[in-house]
Amino acid sequence: MSKMWVGRTDGKTSAAADGFNSSIGFDSRMFAEDIGGSAAHADMLARCGIITEEDARKITDGLRSILEDLREGRLDFDPASEDIHMFVEETLTSRIGDAGKKLHTARSRNDQVALDLRLYLRGRIKEIRESVISLASAFVCRAEEQSGTVMPGYTHMQRAQPVTFGQHMAAYASMFVRDIGRLDDCSRRMNLSPIGACALAGTGFPTDREYEAGLLGFDGVAVNSMDAVSDRDFCVELLSALSVIMMHLSRLCEELVLWSSWEFGFIELPAEYTTGSSIMPQKKNPDMAELIRGKTGRVYGDLIGTLTVLKGLPLAYNKDMQEDKESVFDAVDTVLACLGMAVPMISGLKVRSDRMRRAAGEGFINATDLADYLVSKGLPFRTAYRISGSAVAYCIDNSFTLETLPLEKYISFCPLIGEDVYEAVDLDRCVAARNSLGGTSPDQVRAQAARLKELLAGLSSD
Ligand code: ARG
Repeated sequence: MSKMWVGRTDGKTSAAADGFNSSIGFDSRMFAEDIGGSAAHADMLARCGIITEEDARKITDGLRSILEDLREGRLDFDPASEDIHMFVEETLTSRIGDAGKKLHTARSRNDQVALDLRLYLRGRIKEIRESVISLASAFVCRAEEQSGTVMPGYTHMQRAQPVTFGQHMAAYASMFVRDIGRLDDCSRRMNLSPIGACALAGTGFPTDREYEAGLLGFDGVAVNSMDAVSDRDFCVELLSALSVIMMHLSRLCEELVLWSSWEFGFIELPAEYTTGSSIMPQKKNPDMAELIRGKTGRVYGDLIGTLTVLKGLPLAYNKDMQEDKESVFDAVDTVLACLGMAVPMISGLKVRSDRMRRAAGEGFINATDLADYLVSKGLPFRTAYRISGSAVAYCIDNSFTLETLPLEKYISFCPLIGEDVYEAVDLDRCVAARNSLGGTSPDQVRAQAARLKELLAGLSSD
């Protein structure tokens, strides 16, 4: 097939160069956006008197038939087309004749690809957003339900203080709520139309960019023509937001892997999201969680790859920019797939509260509470801290816990200690006492869950 851009050269490129140059293998997924963008363009051209109403009608009818045929599988993408834009235009012209040749007036593939990508990503961001909302909501449900489940909280991966599993779940819900905010910020900045910037410098035709932007559901126009065709910040911003989502998912998955090990045994993953071993019959492997953790590297790679492609590009369009799509598509697909695994894993995980409590009973995670108790008896915190530390050391050497250490021993460390010390080191009481705003007490966890629920309800109605 002869190339549409035959002009200075005869267009006889080598077959290898054609394959190397072609993007239809991956940009064909934007066919609906490409066709929708072209229909709006034809509408604008006719409205501004640049083409006739008759030609515009032929173009939009032709485009509609192409869209239907592609959707119904009656038309295949031609791998010989350079990209989706060429394919649609070539198919249109073969169907409607000369009117099809007028469609590309007052635009270029440079503004067209920038348009298609924004339209396409706008749709995918909506899907991702819905999925993140589902995940955050799943965490909120678990937070509510587990608001009183005591477990060890860790710092440095050492048992630190008792927390509730609900608090842990609400922590993840909070992260994913912020992720929704990042997606929204990115969508807002992305939602400006580049079409009409043409190759790089605008056009001499009396176009109406604002009208065309309105038809396509944009909030406005990306004004500067050189910026409009060469801006890929929106890809970078989206990739950054997606990388943060993956970072959060990866931290979660690391915990799921640890918690579901024999050593912890805090949770059991739903069997549908685990695998067996081909040789060890006892295994229940957390493959999905591990894969999410692994795929995080891939999404970071997509971000770094795109930043690197862009860093040396002079204005305006350069063909290097064709590389943006595979990265951003890969990241979008990966994040959606990972969220699709994470939601049912969180909703379906079995909480082994007995194992959590047993672990919380070891490791002296109530040592701070003993110190706080001594402060309530009038000691300065530093002194109280030291006494509590000596009591812990004694317990370790003599196989006691702070719950089982006899009162006379306690008194030998500090005569201010009374019978009420046992209440002070009781795990449920320690947890309930951490009732400061956002603390781990069941009351605070329930309050957080209620607040998050309200926030999420507001976000889903956006
Ligand atoms: N396939 C190209 C891309 O993805 C479309 C734009 C081509 N523009 C050009 N002047 N060759 O970037």
